[in-house]
Amino acid sequence: MSFPEGFLWGGATSACQLEGAFDKGGRGLATTDMVIYTPKNERLDKGIEITEEQLQYRKLHPDEFFFPKRHGNDFYHHYKEDITLFAEMGFKVFRMSISWPRIYPNGIDDKPNEEGLKFYDDVFNELKKYGIEPLVTLLHYDIPLYLCEHYNGFESRKTVDCFVKYCKTVFERYKHVVKYWLTFNEINITLGSPYCGCGALMEKSKRDEKNFKYQLTHNQFVASALAVKAAHDINPDMKVGCMICRLEKYPYSPDPKDIYQTMFEDHLNYFYIDVQVKGEYPYYMKRLFEENNIHIDMEEGDLDIIKDGVVDFISISYYMTYVCKYNPKVDLINAGSLIAPIKNPYLKNTDWGWPIDPIGFRTTLNNLYDRYHKPIFIAENGIGCNDVVDEDGYIHDPYRVEFYRAHIEQLHEAIKDGVDVFGYAMWGPIDIVSNSTSEMSKRYGFIYVDADDYGNGSYKRMRKDSFYWYKKVCESNGEDLS
Ligand code: BG6
Repeated sequence: MSFPEGFLWGGATSACQLEGAFDKGGRGLATTDMVIYTPKNERLDKGIEITEEQLQYRKLHPDEFFFPKRHGNDFYHHYKEDITLFAEMGFKVFRMSISWPRIYPNGIDDKPNEEGLKFYDDVFNELKKYGIEPLVTLLHYDIPLYLCEHYNGFESRKTVDCFVKYCKTVFERYKHVVKYWLTFNEINITLGSPYCGCGALMEKSKRDEKNFKYQLTHNQFVASALAVKAAHDINPDMKVGCMICRLEKYPYSPDPKDIYQTMFEDHLNYFYIDVQVKGEYPYYMKRLFEENNIHIDMEEGDLDIIKDGVVDFISISYYMTYVCKYNPKVDLINAGSLIAPIKNPYLKNTDWGWPIDPIGFRTTLNNLYDRYHKPIFIAENGIGCNDVVDEDGYIHDPYRVEFYRAHIEQLHEAIKDGVDVFGYAMWGPIDIVSNSTSEMSKRYGFIYVDADDYGNGSYKRMRKDSFYWYKKVCESNGEDLS
């Protein structure tokens, strides 16, 4: 049994890690533009989260810092060359995001920025030339900074309104060229990283941490549902999906307490898909909200909006699995952590400590399909590596091929099991800035970009060995993994 005909092979990126040109074409500042690069040994592990004080200081003294996401890999000026390389690999799909502040520089502007819209016209035209289907994420972390500073991001309904206005603008503009859309990238990142996911700072909120984070989540659900509804109204053929960082949970042992913990933590990960697919808050959140004193401020009609705005498909990022050991201290905030805290002795880790679990990929897909019976798109799967240019001038990366071969084999097994998967976009087909560490040296690509963590380099593109391997995979529709 082969991969389905027309299976969408390709790669995934986000504007804030890829585009650069933060001050070109009328683009406004994004929240991600304020995140700096810090070398590993100096990192205080706050990563992508920043404080109000840091934000203000960085605004006043930008010359003291390097902000990698302002520069990405400069796709803005290289998109033609990059898309040619994707086409050479045989891509059928390119997952990208639109930078909201390129369209509405401050979020609240009355009119969209024509230069920003034109940039994406050009990118979509270029993709079309090669028959590559664009799959567009509406929001992948780069919220207009103005909305963060004036409304505390998605804590305010004003930001929801601005988001929906932005969505309608791009749906109208691209309704004939983009069929597949995702609303929020990894919507569940908000629990751990509210600045990254929602452009919101805890210290600016009047709520306690739990109320703050679940209010943000609710506002995202409403925003997402309104976007889905708008897309369907504008063009009923457009398909809109949700996107979560799916973490399959394994019990630490057969101890019933560990099994319970696994279910508890699993619920808190599935929660995001439950709401967006079933159109209502799941039964298990009621007690959790009550016992944790969480009172979500809902506007009249919110629950109907959520009901009316269910997604057409599910998409996930799959990087790792997670071990759960009974721990009553794990509450409904830290159970949502996206980093596996307990080491699984059966798995090896990447150089960045992420467990590698190809079989878990098959399990994940079966469980998702079993639970929802909705088509699934793999929006991300990948490995960050320390690649070097060899003395012979090439980049030899057999470790990357090994990772993808193992995962694609298991994806194939899942499809043979009967799971409806319609596409696979590996993460970062070309080297881009890492989200969590802002490093350029955490490389995911089949295409190498000559730039370092401080943005030095020629930005020249080079094919790695894995480029030729993935080309065979795409061209053979997954038959040839040798
Ligand atoms: C996902 C994000 O969490 O993982 C991407 O959607 C991110 O934006 C990817 O880049 C890999 O993570 P990182 O931190 O290695 O870049």
